[in-house]
Amino acid sequence: MNLNDYIASIEDYPKEGVTFRDITPLMANGPAFAQATQEIVDYAREVGAEVAVGPEARGFIVGCPVAYAMEIGFAPVRKKGKLPREIIEVEYELEYGTDVLTMHKDAITPGQKVVIIDDLLATGGTVKATIDLVEKLGGEVVGIAFLIELKELNGREKIEGYNYKALMQY
Ligand code: PRP
Ligand code: ADE
Repeated sequence: MNLNDYIASIEDYPKEGVTFRDITPLMANGPAFAQATQEIVDYAREVGAEVAVGPEARGFIVGCPVAYAMEIGFAPVRKKGKLPREIIEVEYELEYGTDVLTMHKDAITPGQKVVIIDDLLATGGTVKATIDLVEKLGGEVVGIAFLIELKELNGREKIEGYNYKALMQY
């Protein structure tokens, strides 16, 4: 099955000049969602991941089924003001805006091998902030998985030196 068939492209959303790559048709199709999840599971096993980390909200959708299938834990990365206990935080830039990402201080055990999972690599701001959070907590980022890489935004430059996989490229 070609996963690209399940990505919708919406011009000028959420603002002019942005082509939004919508993963909800993929999520809506059981076999496509299962295939995408399995491809990330295979990758996460290959890199020896012990815990999965994903940023809200679409990183949860893609990351949680992977963690479930591998029987490993999932640590959420959330926007500021959402996590109830002691946190660390990092500022980051988006393709369309800026924000602050946080993790619970005890979300990662020092030395733990982490796979970061998100739906999409655009400018790389989100994943770079996530890497910074994981490393501040002493985790080792052994791999990064995306459904989609938007190549022209050059997000890969922000994760140079890290092992990563994107199932689809635009
Ligand atoms: C989107 C997407 C990635 C990020 C990619 O999330 O899910 O996390 O942007 O962009 P970047 O590489 O330029 O950082 P968004 O912050 O829109 O949040 P959402 O998942 O809650 O929609
Ligand atoms: N997140 C950041 N840029 C995006 C895009 N072009 N499509 C979908 N999600 C995004």
